[in-house]
Amino acid sequence: MRTIFALAALLITLTVPSWADFTFAGDAASCTKHDTYADFKLSNAAFQVHVIKPDIIRFRFNAGGKFSEAPSYAVRENKAAPVQFSLSEKPEYYELATGTLTVRITKKPCRVAIHTAGGTLLCEDEKSFGMAFDGGEVRCFKRLFPDERFFGLGEKTGTLDRRGSQYTMWNSDFPSYTKKQDPLYSSIPFFIAERDHQAYGIFMDNTYKSYFNMGASNNRLYWFGAEKGDLDYYFIWGPSMKKVISSYTELTGRMELPPLWALGYQQSRWSYFPEEKVREVARSFRKHKIPCDVIYLDIDYMDGYRVFTWDKTRFPDPAGMIADLGRDGFKIVTIIDPGVKADSNYFAAQEGLARDLFAKYPDGVPFQGQVWPSWAYFPDFTKKETRAWWGEKLSALMAQGIAGFWNDMNEPALWGGNFIDIVRFDDNGHGADHRKAHNVYGLEMAHATFDALNKYSDKRPFILTRAGFSGTQRYAAMWTGDNVASEDHLKLACFMPLSMGISGLPFVGSDVGGFDGCPSPSLYIRWMQLGAFTPFFRGHSCTGMPDKEPWALGETARDLTRDIITLRYRLLPFLYSEFSRASKTGIPLMRPMFLNFQHDDECYKPEAQEQFMVGDSFLVAPVLSEHETAKKLYLPAGKWLDWWKGTICEGKQWITSDAPLHRVPLYLREGAVVPLGEPMQFTGEKVSRELEFKVFPGGESSWELYEDDGVTRRYKDGIFSTTAIKINGKGTLTISRPVSAYKSPVAFYAFTLCGMKKPRSVSCGAAVLSPADSPQGLKAAKEGYFYDTEGAALTVRIATSRVGAASLAIQVK
Ligand code: GLC
Repeated sequence: MRTIFALAALLITLTVPSWADFTFAGDAASCTKHDTYADFKLSNAAFQVHVIKPDIIRFRFNAGGKFSEAPSYAVRENKAAPVQFSLSEKPEYYELATGTLTVRITKKPCRVAIHTAGGTLLCEDEKSFGMAFDGGEVRCFKRLFPDERFFGLGEKTGTLDRRGSQYTMWNSDFPSYTKKQDPLYSSIPFFIAERDHQAYGIFMDNTYKSYFNMGASNNRLYWFGAEKGDLDYYFIWGPSMKKVISSYTELTGRMELPPLWALGYQQSRWSYFPEEKVREVARSFRKHKIPCDVIYLDIDYMDGYRVFTWDKTRFPDPAGMIADLGRDGFKIVTIIDPGVKADSNYFAAQEGLARDLFAKYPDGVPFQGQVWPSWAYFPDFTKKETRAWWGEKLSALMAQGIAGFWNDMNEPALWGGNFIDIVRFDDNGHGADHRKAHNVYGLEMAHATFDALNKYSDKRPFILTRAGFSGTQRYAAMWTGDNVASEDHLKLACFMPLSMGISGLPFVGSDVGGFDGCPSPSLYIRWMQLGAFTPFFRGHSCTGMPDKEPWALGETARDLTRDIITLRYRLLPFLYSEFSRASKTGIPLMRPMFLNFQHDDECYKPEAQEQFMVGDSFLVAPVLSEHETAKKLYLPAGKWLDWWKGTICEGKQWITSDAPLHRVPLYLREGAVVPLGEPMQFTGEKVSRELEFKVFPGGESSWELYEDDGVTRRYKDGIFSTTAIKINGKGTLTISRPVSAYKSPVAFYAFTLCGMKKPRSVSCGAAVLSPADSPQGLKAAKEGYFYDTEGAALTVRIATSRVGAASLAIQVK
């Protein structure tokens, strides 16, 4: 009998995987309070709890007892004064309290639980596991609540709810990726957890390959961890998701306000050459009256893919071409790949070797990998000197008139996979191997480019990057890489930018029309109708594919594309103001419904993620199918104005909206104020003298228009203006200008108030306005009002010179 038991026990030990391979944190033996943190001695590790803000706590855990001294790539230096907190000891636990959060750290074993100051449990370590390590690998196991949802993690496929899946953070190049592909080009180890409509965020600041298991294949726990490095994570309390995103971007930085032209339509393909082809594309845009601001040059502009060079046969006079195109309103953005051709006669290779700027094997031999130029060296962007040198090289292209740079292949991607792990990087003087540097390679390449654009130009930088890490939003816009012309990818082109937006990256978009493959005209039109409302709006195509410019897919596609791009341009005053807000708050302008309506469960449904909002009040319900002509969409509580028909719908219901091929359903929420400028062929074409505001009055609401010169960095010195527009349900619209250091060229405002009864009188300040009998009559009269009985809309037109230091009220009676 005994033998049977012994055998059974042996069998169990052999077949049941032993979790003892992981070493857990152990017990908390002591704790010392410092100015900004508490230091715990655990039986198996060192552990610190830092108070960043009353609602942001950083947890650092290191098995070897020695924390990394290298500065974070993602988190900016914290210059704030220390935050007051208390630390108390009870027989069973320590308690750290900030006034907003209370962190309880049990002693035996050491486990973390975070509560609100009022005692509500927000997040806690899984009781049996908590923090653990296995060799270099670190992990944190958290309790999974039955009703918890997760969002974020940046550029991930699928719908936005991350629960039930595991994700990897390892920047990877997967051309024509599948709808479930993971990982992709960038790594954003930040997610938002939501339960009972209350949200917190966790950002794990670790650049090694990492994993996020959000309750995949289990109902007990979720965990995150990395192959190496400190377990270093920030708990960020909301309870609103907007607050979480705002705090996360306070830590990792925010997008700078881009130049206005970068909000225009951008055209790319692999590749436009020779020069005459580029000129022809530009002419076609103007001929077809399709607005466009940017043309991209893909890899074939270079001499044998040697970065910083031109193919002299294809482009004999780059500066001349760029200047000519500039006169016609086009900016040129060139692709810049990191690989420097290993060619002993090539200046960039010579300089990089002579100055020791490339990544190296541990024996000092510069690493070579194969990409477009064949064997290439790879600049070590984690080294200050390399970043400065790269900037010098870029400055030569800038001197020729290049307006911005498109960083590609910066995962870094190599034919056949990755760098050899042992390859060394500078890591800002601390030294690291490829395993640590991989995920931040793209971030630091964008960093180098951003510094160069700021150093060598007085204009605002524009950078597009494929790879990135948390913090990339400080430097660059990002697109979702090599997608496919298919319905699956049309959907991804909606979901992925939404996910990236709530992960701190607001300036995002997809290759409109699909990179790989050939879209049908209707797929192309639907994609354009989506792209027109994504922050970054660029059409692109793989080499070898048929043309995908707006006029290449037939007349219907051309005409409907023209319509939607024209609307995008008319909406630029609105979008630019929303960009400005996103740059100040970190909250993305393109938002999932649940970000604006956190308490409405309908907004979390996967179907509701096939629509989104731009700012607080503008709803876009793109048709994400090539054949459908109706769109099922959800309107949250309140009243909604159909943008096209002017009809008013009651919210808190799913509706089906007509969506013939020429129309993308758009709705304004009660209280919305949306300015429209004049139609233009490119952003600097003319000075908009009139702004038309579409207003849907209801209750009290306000919106702020932001204006500046759109190109320089003078806005940072206060040279901008803001115009606040407040409406109340009682027929008063108030205009005030809190900041007016920038003199706007706009001479007239025309407010169209939708859903209004015919007024008895309309006044502006002390002046009584006169009625006009047609919209043309109103324009001719310069000021006054016009009532459209059929559309139930009242347009009030006034000279902007009336808006002085005091606020100006328009009264409708
Ligand atoms: C990569 C990029 C793609 C580009 C191509 C050639 O695949 O993702 O956008 O066109 O390289 O440079």
